[in-house]
Amino acid sequence: MPIFAGYMTDMRNIPQHIAIIMDGNGRWAKLRGKERGEGHFAGMEALQRTVYNAANLGVKWLTVYAFSTENWGRPQAEVDGLMELVCKGVEMHTPELKKQGVSVKIIGDKSRFSQKVNEALARIEGHTAGGERMTLVLALNYSSRSEIVAATKELARRVKEGEIKAEDIDEKMISASLYTADMPDPDLIIRTSGEYRLSNFLMWQASYAEFYFSDVLWPDFDNEELEKAIESFSARDRRYGLVK
Ligand code: FPP
Repeated sequence: MPIFAGYMTDMRNIPQHIAIIMDGNGRWAKLRGKERGEGHFAGMEALQRTVYNAANLGVKWLTVYAFSTENWGRPQAEVDGLMELVCKGVEMHTPELKKQGVSVKIIGDKSRFSQKVNEALARIEGHTAGGERMTLVLALNYSSRSEIVAATKELARRVKEGEIKAEDIDEKMISASLYTADMPDPDLIIRTSGEYRLSNFLMWQASYAEFYFSDVLWPDFDNEELEKAIESFSARDRRYGLVK
């Protein structure tokens, strides 16, 4: 190892904010003759390694789609298993996340979760608050359309109460009314398992994001796959509608 390794900078363009649609847990389990819940457990392990791999690369924000508003429609046993996994995940991972300087933030409508789940979420947010190395954002009971509906209602209320004028509503004000108000937009959105959809995830925030689709099923996602996504991102020419 070179003596100044600690001072060497990664010459690639590392995205400040990566968002991931972690897809393929069910298929991963099925391929192995396992229950879907085991796929989600393996998905949790993939999330754990991805958090530290991303933090080591210098990523500042990692947002993951962990439970969509549509996921309530899955069989009750699977929904219960995912809720249990959230609680277990908080218990298992909070101390290490704190130690590693990773703060956790939840986006989505928490009102539908049980008290137990909400307490777990408050615990992980509270105990990891102030971690400055990276922020892990868990999208839970999240969907982009419901987020935009909630923001619209909030702006309508503010207009009605005379706080703001309808004609003053601009992009900045809408961004500031979303769950992601204090976050930068994602630079890179990764979806695993060979699916090419956004599935109601960060639609407003994804306006200028680059996309990377991996054929790997989420539980198999590892540092090599993350590196491939970053290599691909690094080679992109982001013009934001301008000319170079
Ligand atoms: C999509 O795979 C994955 C989910 C709906 C859940 C994601 C959850 C985790 C990765 C677990 C860890 C995270 C937390 C915080 C609970 P799928 O079930 O749709 O897979 P399939 O398309 O192959 O059926």
